[in-house]
Amino acid sequence: MDNIETGRLLLTPWRDCLEDAEGLYAYARDPQVGPNAGWKPHQSVEESRQIIREIFMPADVWAIREKSSGRIIGSIGLENDRRREGVNSREMGYSLAKDCWGHGYMTEAARAVMDYGFRVYDLTVMAICTGPENRRSQRVIEKCGFKYEGRQRRAYHIYDGTDRDNLVFSILREEWEALAQAQL
Ligand SMILES: CC(C)(COP(=O)(O)OP(=O)(O)OC[C@H]1O[C@@H](n2cnc3c(N)ncnc32)[C@H](O)[C@@H]1OP(=O)(O)O)[C@@H](O)C(=O)NCCC(=O)NCCS
Repeated sequence: MDNIETGRLLLTPWRDCLEDAEGLYAYARDPQVGPNAGWKPHQSVEESRQIIREIFMPADVWAIREKSSGRIIGSIGLENDRRREGVNSREMGYSLAKDCWGHGYMTEAARAVMDYGFRVYDLTVMAICTGPENRRSQRVIEKCGFKYEGRQRRAYHIYDGTDRDNLVFSILREEWEALAQAQL
């Protein structure tokens, strides 16, 4: 897992920035961020540090840093794809500080991580899921070229005790290669 640089962003594996738990807490405490992704707002810097250690470090999760300010503004990761046992596939997940929404940052980060996943991990397919109400994330997913697979009913048990439907999307390696070729 390496650093990834894009025009405006630097993606660094969270394992190399454990000391930046304050940066995670600063945006993850916001009640408008986590619940959209199904997780509870962080209650303390210590909780953010624990999440970096126990959830981000064992998986492939990068901190997203805005190059112009040096600030950590989000996270993006490639977790195991639980729907595709034995297939070289990963599921992408992400979140971003509220004051940075709407500038195309996550689309920029996601495309870079897709490139990394297909090139470095040699993935044959990549998946992503979101909730039916999360129109912003659905738009990011669409802009990145994922295709809609379907709706899994009550597939995601979220922090408030309810079970949410999942909209499931994926992109095949050859679809990504065709898109990347067209963008050259
Ligand atoms: C989802 C999230 C990562 C998007 O990040 P972002 O950097 O704002 O995304 P982008 O700017 O790249 O793209 C957002 C797109 O959604 C569109 N959008 C914004 N609000 C919208 C709405 N209510 N309905 C439909 N589209 C909307 C924007 O116009 C933009 O599309 P465009 O480029 O065609 O104009 C961010 O909102 C976030 O962190 N949300 C909370 C956590 C979360 O939901 N994580 C995802 C879990 S699956």
